[in-house]
Amino acid sequence: MYDIAIIGGGPGGYASALYAHNFGLSVALIEKDRVGGTCLLRGCIPAKTWIESSHVFATVAGAAEFGVQSSAPEFVWPTALERKKKVVELLVNGLSGTLKARGVDVIEGHGRITGVGTVSVEASDGSVSDVEARNIIIATGSGPATIPGYEIDGTNIVTSDEALDWSTQPRRVAIIGGGVIGVEFASFLGELGSEVHIFEMLDQLVPGMEPEAAKILARSFRRRSIKAHTGVGVGPARIGEDSVTVPFGDDSVEVDVVLVAVGRTPITSDVGLAAVGVHSDRGFISVDAATMRTTAEGVYAVGDVVAGTPQLAHVGFAEAIAAVTHIATGDSAAVDYNAIPMVVYTNPEIGWVGLTEAAAVESGVSIETAEHGMRGIGRAIIQGEVGGTVKIVSETDGPIVGATVVGPGAGELIHELMYAVGWEALPAEAASFIHAHPTIAEAIGETLLASAGKPLH
Ligand code: NAI
Repeated sequence: MYDIAIIGGGPGGYASALYAHNFGLSVALIEKDRVGGTCLLRGCIPAKTWIESSHVFATVAGAAEFGVQSSAPEFVWPTALERKKKVVELLVNGLSGTLKARGVDVIEGHGRITGVGTVSVEASDGSVSDVEARNIIIATGSGPATIPGYEIDGTNIVTSDEALDWSTQPRRVAIIGGGVIGVEFASFLGELGSEVHIFEMLDQLVPGMEPEAAKILARSFRRRSIKAHTGVGVGPARIGEDSVTVPFGDDSVEVDVVLVAVGRTPITSDVGLAAVGVHSDRGFISVDAATMRTTAEGVYAVGDVVAGTPQLAHVGFAEAIAAVTHIATGDSAAVDYNAIPMVVYTNPEIGWVGLTEAAAVESGVSIETAEHGMRGIGRAIIQGEVGGTVKIVSETDGPIVGATVVGPGAGELIHELMYAVGWEALPAEAASFIHAHPTIAEAIGETLLASAGKPLH
């Protein structure tokens, strides 16, 4: 009898298994694939490795401006693909080793809850065994969704799963969905010279982020060979001999391949939710946000399967900590969903935390905003990356409630503002600290000073 049986070895599941070590709990981690889940195998890590390769390519291509003369670089796709595989391998092997070192029993197979405290595991050879545990954590993750007229065939119409393993660079790509996956693929493929069309049915790229950030991203796309079609619906794809046609409005584009990125659906249909009365809605599992408990006694859910929380690896980690803490101690280690950093790994990079201006207005509080562009920031000029900005949203005479950074290192810099939002810092309190000069972070310092009512530059 284990203390915890975890179904699913992605960020939510493996983090639960690792964290349980702090309390000396015995853990069975049930996974049918390799450990790592979407993030390590088919998501964050491979995607960011491709993006890094494209950044290196762009840096070399633009080196002449900095006085570094070289012949025009050539992007060798298979080499970048090999490097992506190596990075994934390194991290998956590292994770396997850490799980072993922590005494976690990784059990290969498909897990299904069959009764209170029992998970039946069906191995790939067809054999079935039971795992008994005092608590169960469901961490089965999500898979790509699609839309009618875009059935995934893995060749002409693909999802990010297949695109991360393309053996050659597509010359012409249509991306359906201008959310996070869509813009990241558009950005790096465009950087490498593919002709990219990205279709977003709502009126801006990455709906929900600050419009200022979306505008900067759209401008950067326009400068490359990326055509962003926003506020546009697409008709069903027409698959030809060696091309695919995507109709939209009265127009259409012909491409080599279509990448569908219209969101992700939870994988919960064959996990045995009904066997113990776990409530779900369209596959998403309802939980008590303070503890991650589901409606079934002794059953918890974390990660992408959870209803109403962002599908992000780092959210999965935090939810794992909350679930395991509750199992071990009965205490709540509730996730602070108000201060989750969100990073979009495009060029330029975008990071945000807390409320956007529109969301803050909608929440009914009186707010103020301050913004400072990268154009006057010395380090941004030195790096030749001035197309960014910082925007801070604060309550009138109150704390900082949200912030967005666009520009080099935005994904790192946003964590500075994560603390401000999480600790409900007043702009004047945060502005009282000094930023080093010359740094990109000075843009945050300048915005904080403006937010506090006393701008400097
Ligand atoms: P998403 O929900 O971010 O975006 C999907 C987009 O597709 C939406 O903007 C939606 O309006 C649009 N859409 C839906 N149907 C459409 C249609 N018929 N035509 C045109 N547009 C349509 O989902 P996405 O990008 O697939 O990402 C899935 C999940 O993975 C997200 O929850 C995201 O947070 C996570 N993720 C996070 C990353 C990061 O943190 N950097 C990177 C990649 C994924």
